[in-house]
Amino acid sequence: MQYRKFGRLNWESSLLGFGTMRLPVLDGDQSKIDEEEAQRMIYYAIDQGVNYIDTAYPYHQGKSEVFLGKILKGKYREGVKLATKLPIWLLEKKEDCERYFNEQLERLQSERVDFYLFHGLSKANWGKVLELDCFAWAERKMAEGKIGSLGFSFHDEFALFKEIVDFYDNWTFCQIQYNYFDEDYQAGKRGLKYAFQKGLAVVVMEPIRGGSLAKAPSPVQKIWDQAKVKRTPAEWALLWVFNHPEVSVTLSGMSTFEQVSENIAIASKAKPGTFTENDLELIAQARETYRNLRPVPCTQCNYCQPCPAEIPIPDIFEIYNDGKCFEQMERAKMAYKKWIKDEHKADRCTECGQCESLCPQQIPIREWLKRIHEELSSDISH
Ligand SMILES: NC(=O)c1ccc[n+]([C@@H]2O[C@H](COP(=O)([O-])OP(=O)(O)OC[C@H]3O[C@@H](n4cnc5c(N)ncnc54)[C@H](OP(=O)(O)O)[C@@H]3O)[C@@H](O)[C@H]2O)c1
Repeated sequence: MQYRKFGRLNWESSLLGFGTMRLPVLDGDQSKIDEEEAQRMIYYAIDQGVNYIDTAYPYHQGKSEVFLGKILKGKYREGVKLATKLPIWLLEKKEDCERYFNEQLERLQSERVDFYLFHGLSKANWGKVLELDCFAWAERKMAEGKIGSLGFSFHDEFALFKEIVDFYDNWTFCQIQYNYFDEDYQAGKRGLKYAFQKGLAVVVMEPIRGGSLAKAPSPVQKIWDQAKVKRTPAEWALLWVFNHPEVSVTLSGMSTFEQVSENIAIASKAKPGTFTENDLELIAQARETYRNLRPVPCTQCNYCQPCPAEIPIPDIFEIYNDGKCFEQMERAKMAYKKWIKDEHKADRCTECGQCESLCPQQIPIREWLKRIHEELSSDISH
């Protein structure tokens, strides 16, 4: 395993960290972790030098923290930093910070949390962090020794990312979505470089885009086949992230023992600058090929918003495009069902046409909305 400096801390993190959001489960039920197999995977990772484990209040419907509390004992706790997160979206009043934190300590069977994050900061919830004075509460916990270091995970645009980084001088780290497909998405490369030069450790999540980049459709596989050094699609994705010296630790949410063993092997040989110019060129081609597999040429400019019928058109196009280009339509159907409320679904379109008059790409939005609703509302096949 390789190790990298963790921001300003006098500590080095393993290049690969274990994200515990996608542990193996029984009967397809996310709340039933296959504990025997998951323990085997996590102990193996720690034995191989992984020293950063990431969890959060909602993972596996609350069971991820409980499971880690059970298995992380003795030598499997001492050399490891455990990160968990405050579920900002659940907070209603100031006292909730303390309430959730104490519940988490109980679940984790621990007196303290090494790394604590404000979970999933975005425009929608950053105001709440300020309004409920979560910083004052977190500072008290750090002073009491209950929280080791404070960070945040992030899902929004670069401008907000910068504002959050600049807002507080004592951030130790941040966690961003970063992979070769999302180089310029959300915080993106600009965010990575900005946080790094401000002295924050950068923790990367979704390096394989939640698994999407592990299954190359044939036009992408043809690109990988041209490479001198043969690598699996997951290896291309992980190595691309590892190739950035600004990244301290890369979390992968491994769901099988084989994935753990493969990713540890990759992290053991990767160094910044491993990629040749030719490798980087192949990555650029793969990114472009994926983009061209997206059927709706939406650039997420948001000119069509707000829609008079309150349809989040760019979000719906994104779900559909992802499903098509990564050949994961079942996942897209689930995302449509889960994230787009019925009153905002594409079939609420009144065909007023305002969006089409504003769309710089001249997309026949009304037609697409009908078609997408039909495809994404059909039965999920499991
Ligand atoms: N704070 C936040 O807002 C937030 C959001 C997202 C994630 N996270 C954290 O970040 C962690 C990492 O994100 P992620 O889970 O999305 O990571 P990821 O590595 O991008 O995706 C994990 C998925 O990739 C596939 N995979 C991993 N290794 C593979 C390999 N060697 N070969 C083939 N497929 C492989 C598996 O998919 P299959 O299971 O389909 O095989 C696995 O479930 C999460 O587990 C979680 O701890 C935090």
